[in-house]
Amino acid sequence: MEINNRIEIIEVGPRDGFQSIKEFISTEEKKKIIEGIIESGVKKIQLTSFVSPKHIPQMQDAEEIAKYFLNKYPELEFSALVPNYRGVKRAYEMGLRNIAYVISVSEGHNKANVNRSVDESFVELEKILADFPDINITLDAATTFGCPFDGEVSYDKVDSYVKRAYDLGIRTINLCDTIGISNPKQIDELLTILLEKYKDIEFQVHIHDTRNMGMLNSYIAIKKGIKHVQASLGGMGGCPFAPGASGNLSTEDFVYMLDKINIETGINFKKLVNIAKECRDNINGVYSGHQINISDKISCNS
Ligand code: COA
Ligand code: ZN
Repeated sequence: MEINNRIEIIEVGPRDGFQSIKEFISTEEKKKIIEGIIESGVKKIQLTSFVSPKHIPQMQDAEEIAKYFLNKYPELEFSALVPNYRGVKRAYEMGLRNIAYVISVSEGHNKANVNRSVDESFVELEKILADFPDINITLDAATTFGCPFDGEVSYDKVDSYVKRAYDLGIRTINLCDTIGISNPKQIDELLTILLEKYKDIEFQVHIHDTRNMGMLNSYIAIKKGIKHVQASLGGMGGCPFAPGASGNLSTEDFVYMLDKINIETGINFKKLVNIAKECRDNINGVYSGHQINISDKISCNS
């Protein structure tokens, strides 16, 4: 399989990165970082999550963030993560039509994350699909590659999960390595199975960088034909309900790599690095991205 000559990056820092930061980041600061991400050319951004503010107080300004960016940039593709029906309703009322609904593949993490069994989450998804026929749902398959509570997740288990979603009409699935424990062999083998079997599902990957393998694993995924990769500014990230979760694949590092192998992203690396620096200087988060002070002598295509 040839690597696609264009990869779509979905920036998830404002959601996956900010959610694990305890100290409240002002809404103005969040807007500034997201504006910078947009300025660098990113067209698909997960802005926030419509979750219980009791569970994740950082996301209490979801309405304001969503409203602001949807009004200002109607041409861009914004999404938000939701854990339940209530979250979909809130996001919908703000005008969002791209929703990432999360169900873990493993029971242990689904319970810890959204306080439901996997079955209960799927039943809720059915109701969402029936009541909101005009939304595009991306199913976030958390713990696809392993669970901090239940351990290994077999390919068969992932396959049954995907089949169940497929039968409900889901055609976009984001395979999440929630705690960053996947490896190139596993990515290769699982994608071989899924891409062969579900030709009309668009699979995305979302890989945390716990063992410094986020880049390699994402590279293997694009070599298998994946076109949509999630990444996070500065490598910010971590699920508050998954012990051991660390930062994500860093967007700027990934853009740099893609630039160097002539894969187009439409993102300006230097602008992105500058906003990653701004983020690191002002927001006290977990960053797995690497060197930020690059020499002007190092050039990039974009
Ligand atoms: N938005 C805002 N408030 C919500 C909500 C939502 N989507 N869903 C539930 N709530 C409120 C309820 O109204 C209730 O408030 P009250 O105590 O004032 O009545 C409270 O939250 C608890 O509701 P309940 O339905 O009992 O939820 P729960 O305690 O079983 O928790 C979730 C379930 C899904 C709401 C919660 O686990 C959650 O928000 N998880 C987020 C997980 C996450 O973001 N993980 C990281 C990304 S993968
Ligand atoms: Zn994540």
